[in-house]
Amino acid sequence: MSNATRPIKLACRNVWKVYGRRPAYYFDSRGYIIDPDALAERLRAEAHLPAVVDASFEVAAGEIFVIMGLSGSGKSTLVRCLSRLVEPSAGEILLDGRDLLKATGKELIELRRHAMGMVFQNFGLLPHLSVLDNVALPLKIQGRPLKEREVHAREMIALVGLEGREASFPHQLSGGQQQRVGIARSLAVGPELWFLDEPFSALDPLIRRQMQDEFLRLQRMLKKTIIFITHDMAEAFRLADRLAIMRAGKIVQIGRPADIVLNPADDYVAQFTEDMPLLRVIKAGDLAAAANGATMPDQSVAAGTSLEELIPRLASGVSAFTVPGDGTSPPALLSASSVLAVLERELARRTRP
Ligand SMILES: Nc1ncnc2c1ncn2[C@@H]1O[C@H](COP(=O)(O)OP(=O)(O)OP(=O)(O)O)[C@@H](O)[C@H]1O
Ligand SMILES: [Mg+2]
Repeated sequence: MSNATRPIKLACRNVWKVYGRRPAYYFDSRGYIIDPDALAERLRAEAHLPAVVDASFEVAAGEIFVIMGLSGSGKSTLVRCLSRLVEPSAGEILLDGRDLLKATGKELIELRRHAMGMVFQNFGLLPHLSVLDNVALPLKIQGRPLKEREVHAREMIALVGLEGREASFPHQLSGGQQQRVGIARSLAVGPELWFLDEPFSALDPLIRRQMQDEFLRLQRMLKKTIIFITHDMAEAFRLADRLAIMRAGKIVQIGRPADIVLNPADDYVAQFTEDMPLLRVIKAGDLAAAANGATMPDQSVAAGTSLEELIPRLASGVSAFTVPGDGTSPPALLSASSVLAVLERELARRTRP
């Protein structure tokens, strides 16, 4: 389904987080229009640290929105602003159209207990509690009865594939298993919004890939609205419906993976993404164009097919494919020449000195 047809779950408008002695001073600008770059520069010159600079984006219900950037670029600060674990210095955060920055302390606690789930890089499990008790903890905090907590926690443990390990303690589990417990715990409250801050970065590459598959499997079932942070490019491109790239506090580009590799906003993004294999990132649906009444070809290909999978089919001399619609969009036309143009571009990239 395209974004245009899905309601906006979370909107972030011109959000800033500035560390320093008196950040509020800089935002007392009634009636003035802020020039973000000039203000960020001035803040730095005046011993303040603009950790998040004028961030604006919208996340549709059911979308996986990935925030990517180098260490220190402001990813964690931004995601913490979204749940108000960190208080933004300026801007607006709208959850289902309601201004989160105006929520009272009590309302926030309720939201965090019921509407938001969080997974952290270092798992954050309680070492003296069993797997079952760790997962049931948020339900205990919600004040749910013991029996119900246990039944529900067991369901979540099964969901992440840890059935049979309920009585184990965190130190008896591998890193990947511990992170599954973290995931089960964050899902126990049935959050609408799911924040994951580098959840897999402590895991070795093989386990990490398994956890990404697991995560995508869960998301196909649960259809949460997700903000996922990573500094791993391959992970970002694998998981994202759309992604935002941050640099020194600022979002420098937002787009679908294919938009980002095909039309990088600047040299920084281009360099950042130059090792991403175009043929794997770009899908048939990304290149397909409106049919405009043309006769649809007999050969068809699903929108999610990567060009890498598609290229062998071009060998038979097919000149175009039909990309079937998804219920909200009509079928579209994919020409072999547009696929070959990307192939040519990839070859040029690889042979560049
Ligand atoms: N409480 C704080 N006080 C002062 N500066 C802070 C504070 N928290 C974060 N910062 C600074 O804000 C900037 C952004 O930090 P942040 O943790 O958001 O980066 P990140 O992109 O999540 O990095 P990483 O990939 O290493 O987790 C950094 O320069 C950091 O030093
Ligand atoms: Mg971080």
